Amino acid sequence: MSVRGNEPAGPTRVLISSEALHVRVTELGGAIARDYANDDPLLVGILKGALVFMADLIRAIPIAFTTDTIGVSSYGDGIQSSGRVELTCDLAASVEGRHVLIIDDIVDTGRTIAYVKRKVEMRGPRSVRLCVLLGKRERREVAVDVDYLGFSIPDVYAVGYGLDYAGRYRNLPHIAMLEKI
Ligand code: PRP
Repeated sequence: MSVRGNEPAGPTRVLISSEALHVRVTELGGAIARDYANDDPLLVGILKGALVFMADLIRAIPIAFTTDTIGVSSYGDGIQSSGRVELTCDLAASVEGRHVLIIDDIVDTGRTIAYVKRKVEMRGPRSVRLCVLLGKRERREVAVDVDYLGFSIPDVYAVGYGLDYAGRYRNLPHIAMLEKI
């Protein structure tokens, strides 16, 4: 379903406050810093949803690392996944021999992050792990082991803090639930 013109998609209510996000993102950053202290990892964010989370997360990781992004898309403008993941912008960096940490905002069916993980694994990294802010376990269609998970959430349509509905709401400082679409 798409949003017409500037018509709002519907009211939202707070699911995870910005304060709770800050606390959890700081914890995740600390864990990643400990685990990768001497590894000079490559942190790969999946565009576009991971942008806000990644921007805060990397500032909570006080070790040496480099970053890159990869663009993939599967949802289009609606709420239903097309089930097909497309590469829209490839990595700029080489992952060969690197410890790669893939970062995304949410794992829903698991198709997107599984696709990116496969793409990275084919290019000879030393290791590949996953860091995701939100997980919806009950929606999983593809088995995915998330190494660093922020929050498990129920099967609601979450927006904010980088997550969108038809391109909107990425700028909310908290995670909200879209109540009416
Ligand atoms: C969203 C989200 C994840 C993916 C999760 O991306 O950012 O990458 O869907 O869904 P899945 O586990 O069912 O694959 P989307 O394709 O909407 O693009 P965006 O990041 O640009 O919003």
